Amino acid sequence: MKIGVFDSGIGGLTVVKSLLEHQLFEEIVYFGDTARVPYGIKDKNTIVRYAIEAVGFFKNFELDLIIVACNTVSAYALNEMKETSSCPIIGVVEAGVLATNNALKDKDSNILILGTKATINSKAYENALGSLGFKNLQAKATGLFVPLVEEEIYSGEILEATFKYYFNQTTKPDAIILGCTHFPLISNSLKKYFHKNTILIHSGDAIVEYLENNFDFDTKYQQAKLKFFASENPDALKNIASKWLNKSLYV
Ligand code: DGL
Repeated sequence: MKIGVFDSGIGGLTVVKSLLEHQLFEEIVYFGDTARVPYGIKDKNTIVRYAIEAVGFFKNFELDLIIVACNTVSAYALNEMKETSSCPIIGVVEAGVLATNNALKDKDSNILILGTKATINSKAYENALGSLGFKNLQAKATGLFVPLVEEEIYSGEILEATFKYYFNQTTKPDAIILGCTHFPLISNSLKKYFHKNTILIHSGDAIVEYLENNFDFDTKYQQAKLKFFASENPDALKNIASKWLNKSLYV
């Protein structure tokens, strides 16, 4: 299978990392809209317009599937993307909700949903989890984590200050949904701040779980062919990709 992975910028590489670790695909075409990131502070119309343009970009390749790695786009534009795409499209929100449901046996579990302002305002996670019977949901827009991760700040004083700023009223969660592509990189610090046993729902792993439950994969591809495209400075994207994809990031 040859797939496309779309994100507003570099964050979707965390999803690519999970896909590569599970060796599911022969070829991955990544497109990051680095010229227009962040999407998480934009309104629905803009997000939908950019997302439809991304579908247009992927039409240059003969893809079997497009994975929307961006939570913000998945929350707002998945249906509109599907209407204009000739290949199937799946998004990380649905996968994240199913992964949360599989990970938590108790519907009274306390779930903390983190995401961009747009993702949290969409209530996409809250509504879907609510309809599955989860009642104790806290949702918090934590957009400052995005530039921190882009600065490669994954721990330390500045990050801890933002934790205090965002989480001073937060009840200790049983599970945290990392509802933004960048957040897996601060998993360790989040666990340290809350509790080492906190369950973290990672978009990349959730997508892998979703794919393995919905498609048959009989071949493993040890060396997937990777193609990276960006709307601005593709070399910067390639540099980050070689850093992020070649080391263990979440330990
Ligand atoms: N990729 C976005 C997401 O997962 C985060 C960055 C942005 O705001 O564009 O929601």
